[in-house]
Amino acid sequence: MTEPPIVDFDHHRSEFHRERHERWAELRACPVAFNPNYGGFWVVSGYDEVATVARDGSTFSSRYVAESDDGIDYLGITGVPRSKGMPTAGIAEVEGPVHTALRRAINPFLVPDAIRRLHPLMEQAATWFLDERIETGSMDLVNDYASPVPAVLTMALVGLPLDGWQHYAEMFHAAVAHRPGDPELRAAFAHVPAMLAELGAAAESRRAEPRDDLLTALVQLRVEDDRPLTDDEVRAVLWNLVGGGLDTTTSLTSLALHHLEARPEQRQALIEDPDLLAPATEEFLRYWSVNESLTRTVVQDTELGGQALGRGDHLLLSWLSANRDASVFDRPDEVVLDRERNPHLAFGVGPHRCIGSTMARELFKVLVREILTRIPDYVVDQDATTFYAANPELNGVVRMPITFPPGPRTGPSAPPFLA
Ligand code: HEM
Repeated sequence: MTEPPIVDFDHHRSEFHRERHERWAELRACPVAFNPNYGGFWVVSGYDEVATVARDGSTFSSRYVAESDDGIDYLGITGVPRSKGMPTAGIAEVEGPVHTALRRAINPFLVPDAIRRLHPLMEQAATWFLDERIETGSMDLVNDYASPVPAVLTMALVGLPLDGWQHYAEMFHAAVAHRPGDPELRAAFAHVPAMLAELGAAAESRRAEPRDDLLTALVQLRVEDDRPLTDDEVRAVLWNLVGGGLDTTTSLTSLALHHLEARPEQRQALIEDPDLLAPATEEFLRYWSVNESLTRTVVQDTELGGQALGRGDHLLLSWLSANRDASVFDRPDEVVLDRERNPHLAFGVGPHRCIGSTMARELFKVLVREILTRIPDYVVDQDATTFYAANPELNGVVRMPITFPPGPRTGPSAPPFLA
């Protein structure tokens, strides 16, 4: 082992963010390096190294513990430094038998068969929100469409009232679009306690009146020595599911449609060949890696990429960098719609791999198809389009006004999913 290579950058600064693709490419020359900022953390940028960490949950922990008693400062997954104000992610930041039991209980609601049953609702919601704007010839593609549809679907998945979608959509969108210190972020976080209370109340109502849904499965789950989940655990799991389901698919859809407007030949190819949407979805996932990075904590001394890592060390894993690694992907900085081999890590890998990946893929396809079928000639107002401000964990679009030739409504005059 040699002295660790030092890299000195601040991933929260807009300068880094603006040039991050070039910077990650430089960083990959030394795929495991030490950054002394923010208390010191390892930067993991190579595909193989990122995958190795993600696969080995017993060495590289995802746990978040506010005050641990074993001398380790468990960072959790949501960033270096951990963002203040975000509650614990009740699935992603849990390890061991409780994590396994949670995945086993939730998975049946997210497997392909279950997502197929959600398909009519995906179609109805996409049609409804586009119908709401199509006669006017303009809309904000993010806030009128790409955000509301996943929000309605997430409510349905969990078993929450569908008409409550809006405040979750607005809170999670604001929470990832703005940065610490921004008044919008403070305003968004001010809603967190009431939302957690609302999720807790929904769980309580299922204890009293069980149904055939995810919420009921959660309150009936027994873990460890046959104990039920605590109220805090239930709220944290719901928070993780709602947070995971909301702004991620929104961002992927918005970024893809932004790209396709600037690349008319790719847009036309997708219109002419519906089968192209499947590989294109994987390519958009890879290219943007909307969940750009996450964190881990080392729980036992180990070695990674030739570097000695100590118990308690923190790691920043860049899925984005892994997905642009030229040793794995040919022409990594290009969108190749029909890319044949695409083993991207946009949904992570290993024990914490995204549990909502089937839902995300299917919903993304429905959202894009609806736009390309009904308003294929949309034009983006580039000056009024804004992207997330230097968020190292998540990429996305704050707002994206578009115009298009007005068209007719095609769905019912009242939202069928609220009937
Ligand atoms: C484009 C869409 C999405 C992307 C790019 C994405 C990305 C990711 C990634 C990278 C992870 C791995 C976290 C880790 O290793 O620490 C993850 C986990 C997770 N995702 Fe997603 N996600 C998406 C959509 C969704 C949806 C739609 C849901 C819910 C319905 C969801 C719920 C979750 C949950 C609960 C976890 C934690 C799983 C665990 O720790 O066992 N995600 N996601």
